[in-house]
Amino acid sequence: MTQEQTTAAARPSGPCLVLGGKTGMLGQALMDALAKAGHPAVAQGRDDVALTSREALAAYLETVNPGVVFNAVAYTQVDKAEDEPDEAARLNKTLPENLAHLSASMGFKLIHFSTDFVFDGKGQEPYEVDAPTGPVSVYGRTKLAGEKAIRSVNPPGWTICRTAWLFGPGRKNFITTILNLCRSRDTLNVVDDQIGSPTCTVDLALHAVQLLDADASGLFHVVNVGEASWCELATEAVRLTGLPCKVSPIPTSGYPTKAARPAWSVLSTAAFTAATGVTPRPWAKALRDYIFKDLQDFLEPQANRG
Ligand SMILES: NC(=O)c1ccc[n+]([C@@H]2O[C@H](COP(=O)([O-])OP(=O)(O)OC[C@H]3O[C@@H](n4cnc5c(N)ncnc54)[C@H](OP(=O)(O)O)[C@@H]3O)[C@@H](O)[C@H]2O)c1
Repeated sequence: MTQEQTTAAARPSGPCLVLGGKTGMLGQALMDALAKAGHPAVAQGRDDVALTSREALAAYLETVNPGVVFNAVAYTQVDKAEDEPDEAARLNKTLPENLAHLSASMGFKLIHFSTDFVFDGKGQEPYEVDAPTGPVSVYGRTKLAGEKAIRSVNPPGWTICRTAWLFGPGRKNFITTILNLCRSRDTLNVVDDQIGSPTCTVDLALHAVQLLDADASGLFHVVNVGEASWCELATEAVRLTGLPCKVSPIPTSGYPTKAARPAWSVLSTAAFTAATGVTPRPWAKALRDYIFKDLQDFLEPQANRG
């Protein structure tokens, strides 16, 4: 029996707890993926517990007695974080740090989510999990601090999934924003010199559960494969819906934002595939499924489904 199997056997037999499972974009996808995989799961929302209080969090976890905790809660407003660094750090650093300590003392497995924004964006090859980090924003710095806190506490079986550029059902996201704008405009200017790994929450949640089922632990990059600029992603979404709107490329300098973003943050899924034997599908296939399954409202009768 390996060390990992020993650790898993010693875990509480309680349900999977999904922090952010009631309202978060990823949290809701995790609840669906866990149900499909036959894992009993409990969804947490803001009314259930004050997550930033370690005592309240500990008491809540004692009540639920989870075997696994997925932390899909975060301060995700990248630009607003520049003005609220303390609040961002409470959610992105202190919460995972507290969860790591409680994981060590209570025995549940912690599966946490982080971001491509821990990188500086100057890479030219897809970032591997051990590539040097260098966040360029408060959001990226607080998320990296959360990763480091978990690794420093080092609870048995800790798992961190870095992901990127999420879209999916259940919450406003880049795709719904673009398609809503297309309803009222003939043309849209979208940044074309930031390149990343667009990822569907449905796929990410499935892959996170696959990591759990493979009893994997450590740091992984979990994204749909392929790369795109924001402009390429928007163009494909508009093409699939058939909305009559022209998407034009502009440079980052043409769309100033409070927070800096990495210019190139494509993630390599090699470590994830080595652990699970699974290769994520291309982002364009995941986008197509998302639009045709979940965004019926945006589809026109004459939509081009090619
Ligand atoms: N979205 C992306 O493009 C992206 C990219 C890379 C990595 N990630 C990472 O992926 C994970 C999931 O992101 P997501 O897009 O699914 O996030 P999301 O949709 O913004 O959901 C965030 C969750 O955190 C909860 N939350 C935020 N502030 C809270 C507070 N003060 N107290 C209690 N709950 C609070 C939210 O609750 P309410 O609904 O009540 O506000 C919501 O359930 C995060 O770790 C994020 O850093 C996301």
